[in-house]
Amino acid sequence: MPPKAILKLDNKDYDLSVITGTEGEKAVDFRNLRNDTGYVSYDEGYGNTGSCLSSITFIDGEAGILRYRGYPIEQLAEYSSFIETAYLIINGELPIPAQRKRFSQLLTENSPIHSGMEHLFEGFPADAHPMAILSAMLNSLGSYYPHLATNDHQHDLEKFEETSAIIISKVRTIAAYSYRASRGLPYIHPRRDLPYCENFLHMMFSTPYEPYIALPEVAQALNLFLLLHADHEQNCSTSTVRMVASSGANLFASTAAGVCALWGPLHGGANAAVIEMLQSIHAEGDDGTKFIEQAKLGKADRRLMGFGHRVYKHYDPRAKIIKESFYSALASLGIKDDPLLNIAMRLEEAALKDEYFLARKLYPNVDFYSGLIMRAIGIPVNMFTVMFAIGRMPGWIANWKEVAANPKGRIYRPRQIYVGANQRDYVPPNKRK
Ligand code: CMC
Repeated sequence: MPPKAILKLDNKDYDLSVITGTEGEKAVDFRNLRNDTGYVSYDEGYGNTGSCLSSITFIDGEAGILRYRGYPIEQLAEYSSFIETAYLIINGELPIPAQRKRFSQLLTENSPIHSGMEHLFEGFPADAHPMAILSAMLNSLGSYYPHLATNDHQHDLEKFEETSAIIISKVRTIAAYSYRASRGLPYIHPRRDLPYCENFLHMMFSTPYEPYIALPEVAQALNLFLLLHADHEQNCSTSTVRMVASSGANLFASTAAGVCALWGPLHGGANAAVIEMLQSIHAEGDDGTKFIEQAKLGKADRRLMGFGHRVYKHYDPRAKIIKESFYSALASLGIKDDPLLNIAMRLEEAALKDEYFLARKLYPNVDFYSGLIMRAIGIPVNMFTVMFAIGRMPGWIANWKEVAANPKGRIYRPRQIYVGANQRDYVPPNKRK
């Protein structure tokens, strides 16, 4: 007999079926709950809700496991590259050489942006946040390809290979141009001969008079950063992408929405918040000791940024990998005695011994180190979350495809439990108190 759950409500038993995932994750199927019982489930923050069936990424937060399409993150970090991993996440399998070559060609062909788009950057104020620019530009990008952004999923899926390559490639050009625009610097066009990360660094840091040649260790650190961010199952931004996609929206619009969701400090904004926290600790002359004590008071504005995770209740496996590669990147950049780095190390050491953090299972997450790596590469702090967005693009694209290609897909439309005023009569303005 297949397992089932029994729900007792108002003296009646309801049989609910149980769904088991390929890694043994169990879920009670509530899809007919309201129809059968009149009740809805209440799960604010969705901590207990499986919102979809997905075959992209597996996480076991208790055991610190992360796999893309079945492949452990540790193996991908060691042997793969961001672009190969992006292909894997989007298409489900590692590419054979011919597929890898075609993907690279598509990325190269699609790296420049329409010259009309360059003018759009000029419409933003000089201090516009690059995440605002990125989101607006990704959405605008769709209007340059109306045949790829029809909002007819069947049609958009037929062109999916081209659309996904356009987005993966152009997001990096848009990101670099937004940085150049914010500094009043001339745009540096992409080069056909450079790999993905080197090309991005070239567009960021070359000048019309002098090319920027990335150190191999710097390009490698960026590659690893992007690969480690490439997907992370149903986090806030990915769920947003799926939510928007479920209405039938095209890939450009859906990923633009993902950028907005990622922006917040509890999600993608955490990597920048870590550096801001370290800077403010340093400016206050603290070595981290005072800050740790304040973080334990539970005040939202004094959280130890880069610590804790909704899913990982042990070390975030991405944090482990990035920490290991971190020191070699620093050494190759000649960075030895950085006060912020010293504070970060002290914070980590203290928190990992402290009862408050241990009891709540708060360990460093990927953002604790990734901000420090970005800073060492020379990426300005307000671009850190943009870098996260470039990395997360394959995951958003793959999740959009799962929604778009699901023949049984329905619009995402949660219920609520209304706790507002009961019905009352309209009060004319002169009678209001
Ligand atoms: N510093 C101090 N206390 C914390 C922290 C922290 N970073 N994170 C959680 N807590 C405490 C929290 O105050 C609560 O304590 P109590 O039980 O006494 O009320 C307890 O731990 C549980 O916290 P929560 O807010 O219910 O946990 P959550 O699962 O809703 O939040 C989180 C997860 C990541 C938003 C949170 O840990 C946090 O704000 N961390 C700092 C921001 C951060 O680094 N975010 C990046 C996440 S990784 C990148 C990504 O995937 O987006």
